[in-house]
Amino acid sequence: MSTLQGHEMSRSAKINELVDGLVKEVQKLGESLNAIRPPQADQESRAAGLIEKTNQLRGRPLFYNFIGSGIGHGPYVELEDGSVKLDLINGIGIHILGHSHPEIIRASLKGALSDVVMQGHLEPNTEYTKLSSKLVELASKNSRMKHAWITTCGTMANENALKICRQKKTPARMIITFKDAFAGRSTMMAEVTDNPAFKQGLPEYHEVLRIPFCNKFDDSMCRQSCGKEKTLAVLKEHVAKHEGNVSCFVFEPMLGEGGYRAACREFFLPLLAFCKEKKIPVWADEIQTFTRTGQFFAYETYGFGDYVDICTIAKTAQNGATLYTEEMNPQPGLIAGTFAGSTAALSAGLAVLEELENGNYMGPNGKVNQIHKGFVSMLNRLNETTCKGLLRDAGGLGLMVAVTALDGSQAKPQQLLKSLFKNGLLCFGCGRNPWRIRFLLPAVLTQADIEVAGQIIEKSIQECS
Ligand SMILES: Cc1ncc(COP(=O)(O)O)c(C=O)c1O
Repeated sequence: MSTLQGHEMSRSAKINELVDGLVKEVQKLGESLNAIRPPQADQESRAAGLIEKTNQLRGRPLFYNFIGSGIGHGPYVELEDGSVKLDLINGIGIHILGHSHPEIIRASLKGALSDVVMQGHLEPNTEYTKLSSKLVELASKNSRMKHAWITTCGTMANENALKICRQKKTPARMIITFKDAFAGRSTMMAEVTDNPAFKQGLPEYHEVLRIPFCNKFDDSMCRQSCGKEKTLAVLKEHVAKHEGNVSCFVFEPMLGEGGYRAACREFFLPLLAFCKEKKIPVWADEIQTFTRTGQFFAYETYGFGDYVDICTIAKTAQNGATLYTEEMNPQPGLIAGTFAGSTAALSAGLAVLEELENGNYMGPNGKVNQIHKGFVSMLNRLNETTCKGLLRDAGGLGLMVAVTALDGSQAKPQQLLKSLFKNGLLCFGCGRNPWRIRFLLPAVLTQADIEVAGQIIEKSIQECS
């Protein structure tokens, strides 16, 4: 059999040795970045200039004075001002394996050797097939989904999902979703999103029907009284009023931007069963939850995969994707686009999933759940001791944890975020009434890192209260 040059390239001992050398060199350079470090006097004014220029180019300031230097070590990241921060937000959930992870660098480097920077749906290379295949393999374990369509971001995956649902249910227009939902930044996903601050000045299309979400912060709180009867009643009312005109039910298995609210299984089941009965496509938006709940998909953690017709993911896969069943497979021409993703990102996305699959992260006793328990108990301990009552309702699912800090308004906790940043910890906010501090924890966090986070949180709360 003849040999392809492309296969020679990926097997080449010389190339593998060079890549290994690069990975090792980066690891060596990053080794010392394993603790918080304040900004360095000789870097600060140069970094301030960079930030100012960035702000001016964007037309508005960065939320944090954050410009990364390009290297980190696990959950720690070095910034251009010379500081090292503990990164517990990870680009809002992209870097689940932290910074400068050797396997991710290796995969990106190998991707970067490809003949093309970007791959498209018309002329894909093998990385496209490998990532699609891994996604379908993972998705089909506990659901009926059989196909994956790759995109460059979550919003585009959602746009494709909506088009698929609408094509299947044509001419139905209406979308049912939760109050406080978030779905992305395109015109239509801004419509699905329930936050006026994210769509100021945009016209409304009146195509979204909302049902209330559980008003609790985690599974156990929800089980006590999740309001499922009320939610089901509102869903039934909407469907009765718009019979034949509902294209889908789209839901986040845990409200993300909407405040990290996680409902219990019993809350979801009647809604999903009713949609099935009414032949309304069930679409799980797992863009934030994918890989973070202790299983690859939150629908597996909840055990309702059989109900899901379509599922969207992004963030940790380094690409977006729309996953769907045979019945939901759209007509050719409906979903396409020039870019599928960069070869480095497709290759790195696969490496992330393989690491998560093989590295003891998933399952009830996997690293994800251990980190969740460790982090939530640290927050609860502070709330009961040195930060009495100022870190309430710590909860969430897996690597997504939030807490109501200080008075739960937006102003004070925003001040807290700045203080946390100054003291070396990166996290972010979510929700309204209350406004919550959220953490998208990297799966490489150790108990020692959690203790470091606790010390910074304690100090920052004391500065702000
Ligand atoms: C639930 C959910 N849907 C959609 C999106 C949009 O994804 P992206 O920002 O990759 O376009 C996000 C992003 O945070 C999300 O959390």
